[in-house]
Amino acid sequence: MRTPIIAGNWKMNKTIPEAIELANSLKREFLDIQGVEVVICPPFTALSEVFEILNSSNIKLGAQNMSCQEEGAFTGEVSAKMLRDAGCQFVILGHSERRQYFFETDNLINNKIKAALKNNLTPIVCVGETLDERENEKTFDVIQTQISGVLKDIKAVDLEKIIFAYEPVWAIGTGKNATSAQAEEVHKFIRSFLKKCYNEETANAVRIQYGGSVKPENFSELISQEDIDGALVGGASLQMEAFVKIVKQCLAS
Ligand code: PGA
Repeated sequence: MRTPIIAGNWKMNKTIPEAIELANSLKREFLDIQGVEVVICPPFTALSEVFEILNSSNIKLGAQNMSCQEEGAFTGEVSAKMLRDAGCQFVILGHSERRQYFFETDNLINNKIKAALKNNLTPIVCVGETLDERENEKTFDVIQTQISGVLKDIKAVDLEKIIFAYEPVWAIGTGKNATSAQAEEVHKFIRSFLKKCYNEETANAVRIQYGGSVKPENFSELISQEDIDGALVGGASLQMEAFVKIVKQCLAS
């Protein structure tokens, strides 16, 4: 059985006091939550403060990005070691906004995954097709290329430590989510591709989140699908009530 995992991607939102307020409310809500893993990913500036709050809870901390470099003259970058130091256990890598606005490639994401694993951070690795690619029936090709690229030279023992997030680009922040059938089709494809590249046992253990306009109104159907193991939530993770409802739907499924 794969434990469902819900991660809140706060993106470039929340000042430190705002982040503290939301983290405190979530901590109260999830005081004794079990059977679902909850991760929140505030902006870099609020990580340490939020960690202080989460320290005595079972909500875990993640970052939204990091450098593939260990340390040194890389102005503006944040390393895996620094994220560990700030209390992170997770890091989102290869989000489509990073790919689109900051030109991140599968090769760069592959290097970031290796750096994260080396430093005991669990990478949440995002893949997904654009609307144009879906309409031209290239979804599976795109996903396969992204997965093979980001997993280059990664062994089966390490694959187990990676979480994938299938996030169709056309569904992110648009209010238009993939239907549960569309999402399940791609999740199944990812798992079978991992079986082919690695082995059945490892592929069956890997958790694959869905992301893209997840909200309480659409999530129960998504999480009831066999290969959907949770969600990477953007907009709705900024609203305490919506995020709580999404997490609780995992327990009901
Ligand atoms: P959204 O974002 O839930 O606001 O669509 C998801 C994401 O970008 O991870």
